[in-house]
Amino acid sequence: MLLNALRSCSARCQATSRTALVQITSRTFSSSLSRSFPQIDSLRIAGVLGNTQPTTLSTSRILPYLNHARLHSSSKKSEQVGAASPDAPSSEPLPILPRPSVGGWLLFSSTLVFAVIVVGGVTRLTESGLSITEWRPITGILPPLNHDEWMTEFNKYKATPEFKLMNSAITLEDFKFIFFMEWGHRVLGRLIGLAFVGPLAYLALRKKISRSMTTRMTGLALLIGAQGAMGWYMVKSGLEDSFLETPGAVPRVSQYRLASHLGLAFLLYLGMFGSGMAIIKDWKYANGAAWSGVTGQKISAILQNPVVRRIKIFSWGLAGLVLLTALSGAFVAGLDAGLLYNEFPLMGGRLAPPTAELFDPAYAKSADKSDLWWRNIFENPTTVQFDHRVLATTTYIAAAALYAQTFKPAVRAALPPLTRTAITAAFAMANVQVLLGITTLLYLVPVPLAALHQAGSVMLLSAMVHVLITLRRPGAAARLWRASKAAQKK
Ligand code: HEM
Repeated sequence: MLLNALRSCSARCQATSRTALVQITSRTFSSSLSRSFPQIDSLRIAGVLGNTQPTTLSTSRILPYLNHARLHSSSKKSEQVGAASPDAPSSEPLPILPRPSVGGWLLFSSTLVFAVIVVGGVTRLTESGLSITEWRPITGILPPLNHDEWMTEFNKYKATPEFKLMNSAITLEDFKFIFFMEWGHRVLGRLIGLAFVGPLAYLALRKKISRSMTTRMTGLALLIGAQGAMGWYMVKSGLEDSFLETPGAVPRVSQYRLASHLGLAFLLYLGMFGSGMAIIKDWKYANGAAWSGVTGQKISAILQNPVVRRIKIFSWGLAGLVLLTALSGAFVAGLDAGLLYNEFPLMGGRLAPPTAELFDPAYAKSADKSDLWWRNIFENPTTVQFDHRVLATTTYIAAAALYAQTFKPAVRAALPPLTRTAITAAFAMANVQVLLGITTLLYLVPVPLAALHQAGSVMLLSAMVHVLITLRRPGAAARLWRASKAAQKK
């Protein structure tokens, strides 16, 4: 109804005089449209119209908006980058397009997750992770505040197998150091929860993000909670009294739980980093920028080119391989397997240790030894280190192969320019990561190198996400907004 009224009004105005102005304020206009299209808030309509202040609108400024409101949400259509090519008309309103600040919030959250991953690594490497013996999500935010409280915490630590078997000479001052490492890690985890959930609630309630994005982000928020619980589940495994009963046992957390904790952190990081990048890129595209360096050509046609599709599939495979290698690294770290075979590329003077050592029957627990292979893969430090080497070498070769592809004339011509740059960056990062891994091994896992190696795995994953983002099609909302703006300019 409103559309019809506005259309006939504008037609009358045009008929009366080509220079006649419709004397309404954009605020009145935008609030009327908001009532008709609740999905679009008046600020955004005002944004389309130019500003939020009362102003005089000519019919030539209203008519384009009427066209926008009729734009199709056809996601299958190919779009001309940099050209004014609105999709077919529709009665659908423009979908919500998150602003770059939303992307900034997600990138900030991913940086916090990056930081907590590094702090977590240093906590483990300084053997501080088992210093806090309880999980108190709310009250645990305060460290001991006086000598008595410190002594209480210290006495709780004195009851742990780690203190009894490995740390019985520790002083209160030493204890304070390992306590603050673990406490800092836990406090950072809580801060990430607050920095994520607070803005998410605001954005969802103010309808600044779409319903589907709200659902995905709520999934990430739940993952943050699950990560806290997983962290405690991991720490608990290092506090078991059973270490005291097993001769020669070293109190340390389960490598399975360590890998799960690190794996969840990677998922959180990837979800936040990938979504943040996509939002910022979509916003730029919606506002007329090139897509992955592509201007004046059909982006859909480029992305459907078989050569580009092959590179995209390869890149997905490589990203999966990097994640798998990183998870296998968590097993190396969990079993302190970096303290064996401190040479590269050989292990004990040969490329691979003897099979009897890699598949040692001592690790099998079932009577028929049917668990021989998988228990060795996950529980035998020699095999775990060997697996990490094999996976890392495969990852490196695959990254080099992807990079080499970009030199083929056909691939060079087909790939968006930004993808080529992103692949080069990923290969460079693979080199750094492998060098860090080798030096960590050769120097018997010093804390700074091992922490850098862990941070490097996140950087390599980020580089792979960047490659994939450059090969992603612009989001449906961004395509519609771009078409709408192009129609507005006509
Ligand atoms: C694509 C290449 C690689 C990736 C993505 C990767 C990833 C990782 C990750 C995530 C960890 C766990 C860190 C932690 O939880 O503290 C790790 C540990 C480790 N990696 Fe790698 N790594 C790679 C290559 C290598 C190479 C080539 C070597 C040397 C042979 C190596 C040696 C080690 C060692 C010794 C550890 C244990 C460090 C510790 O105890 O903290 N890595 N790796």
